Amino acid sequence: MLPSPIHFFALLLTLPFAVLSSPVPWQANQDASHYDVLIVGGGPAGLSALSGLARVRRKALLIDSGEYRNLLTRHAHDIIGSDGVTPAYFRAKAREQISLYPTASMKNGTVTDIQQVNNSCFAITDADGNQYTSRKVVLATGMKDVIPSTPGIDENWARGIYWCPWCDGYEHRDQPLGLLGTLDKVPGLIREIETLNTDLIAFVNGTLTPANMAALTATEPDWEKLVKAYNVQIENRTITEIRRLQDGGIVKSAVDKAEYDKFMVYLDDGTAIERAAFFAGFESVQRSDLGRKLGVTLVNDKSLLANFTAGMVTNIAGVYAVGDANSDGSTNVPHAMWSGKRAAVQCHITMAEEDAESAIAQAGAKAKRGAVTRRDVEESLLEFIGKDIEGLWR
Ligand SMILES: Cc1cc2nc3c(=O)[nH]c(=O)nc-3n(C[C@H](O)[C@H](O)[C@H](O)COP(=O)(O)OP(=O)(O)OC[C@H]3O[C@@H](n4cnc5c(N)ncnc54)[C@H](O)[C@@H]3O)c2cc1C
Ligand SMILES: *[C@@H]1O[C@H](CO)[C@@H](O)[C@H](O)[C@H]1NC(C)=O
Ligand SMILES: *[C@@H]1O[C@H](CO)[C@@H](O)[C@H](O)[C@H]1NC(C)=O
Ligand SMILES: *[C@@H]1O[C@H](CO)[C@@H](O)[C@H](O)[C@H]1NC(C)=O
Ligand SMILES: *[C@@H]1O[C@H](CO)[C@@H](O)[C@H](O)[C@H]1NC(C)=O
Ligand SMILES: *[C@@H]1O[C@H](CO)[C@@H](O)[C@H](O)[C@H]1NC(C)=O
Repeated sequence: MLPSPIHFFALLLTLPFAVLSSPVPWQANQDASHYDVLIVGGGPAGLSALSGLARVRRKALLIDSGEYRNLLTRHAHDIIGSDGVTPAYFRAKAREQISLYPTASMKNGTVTDIQQVNNSCFAITDADGNQYTSRKVVLATGMKDVIPSTPGIDENWARGIYWCPWCDGYEHRDQPLGLLGTLDKVPGLIREIETLNTDLIAFVNGTLTPANMAALTATEPDWEKLVKAYNVQIENRTITEIRRLQDGGIVKSAVDKAEYDKFMVYLDDGTAIERAAFFAGFESVQRSDLGRKLGVTLVNDKSLLANFTAGMVTNIAGVYAVGDANSDGSTNVPHAMWSGKRAAVQCHITMAEEDAESAIAQAGAKAKRGAVTRRDVEESLLEFIGKDIEGLWR
């Protein structure tokens, strides 16, 4: 028996909605060398950015050349939940966890060139000649410490000769310390370390000159009073060598975190002064030239200018700067993780905003083509049977 016209009409109306209600599963783009985001650098900043992108299934590649700023340090500190782990363990654990996310990839290598093709595309080349494209670039390339050539400093860097009191000060609290750096660095070093040690000698290595003193007085009029108040001895003779006598990586307390390094500082007149450890105020420079070559603005010719309220974006749209390399003057693991995360969120939201317009337009076109509405059906039925639709209902 043939269905009555009214049954036929009802059947037609149900069909299109069945089609509409089966969503297509999400897929990352299938172009093997094209990424949503390419991250340069695999320290805590780059890894944090990768994690934030992986969690929302952005296709991201991290390329890392492994020259970490804290490569030589014994233990990383002031990272809550991970206080005292080795930096290598910290990074390996992060890589292991991130590797479970299928849209995140990591490679060891060196990015040698980044070209902006247009507003939505960068072309990236690595030292092995591999080429990639991406919509956004995150520079997590870090900083490099400029270590003076005086014998013994480079050799003992990060293991008795340190950079930051938060990182390594507590292990050497109440021990006789040396401050290393030019005269202008001394007041800042004293203020950072004054709660940890009182026996301080500042080895200014010949920079206690009338010109340097006048320059420091101009910016810090009370510096001499500060030096006196904290009983800091200023040692101006040139350092010829810093020689290790004892290794605090071996001679250390099992209970209270104390590490007992011991050094002899030799001066140019043959004098030798013993110190347990040192805090240095050396310069640092960008580890990589990629930002500068891309046209990213450098603050004081040193840091990649990032807009913090706009999620670490630089003056080059689509390029983000995070971690030590960026310009908020904070250089530590928690900052690296925060700024990486911030850029990941901003990259994701920015790309979603860019995509929203075309997604809406595509959905509109799709509705017209196939995923038909009830109204579409009624209109085409009218066209098909002519104006005499009233007859159907009788
Ligand atoms: C001696 C010392 C001890 C420290 N201890 C602590 C501590 O205890 N706690 C703490 O919070 N902070 C500590 N810090 C600071 C900490 O190391 C940095 O803040 C942190 O490493 C910054 O992370 P980042 O990811 O920005 O840079 P990094 O960790 O330096 O990583 C940058 C990465 O980018 C890579 N890279 C650069 N250019 C390229 C390129 N062209 N292609 C591919 N890869 C590239 C580098 O090889 C490197 O692997 C210490 C620093 C020093 C010097
Ligand atoms: C990549 O570098 C990390 C250290 O940064 C190392 O642990 C790992 O083995 C390297 N991977 C390869 C494939 O060389
Ligand atoms: C940007 O360049 C890429 C690669 O050449 C191309 O696929 C894309 O269509 C371009 N986009 C725009 C907006 O021009
Ligand atoms: C000390 O000064 C000498 C000579 O200027 C210089 O070569 C050396 O790098 C300086 N060392 C330190 C620790 O500042
Ligand atoms: C510190 O050393 C420098 C370089 O040797 C010298 O020029 C300067 O006079 C010294 N300062 C003092 C106060 O002796
Ligand atoms: C930084 O970003 C904020 C928010 O988007 C914007 O209002 C501000 O103008 C930006 N600053 C600079 C210097 O571009």
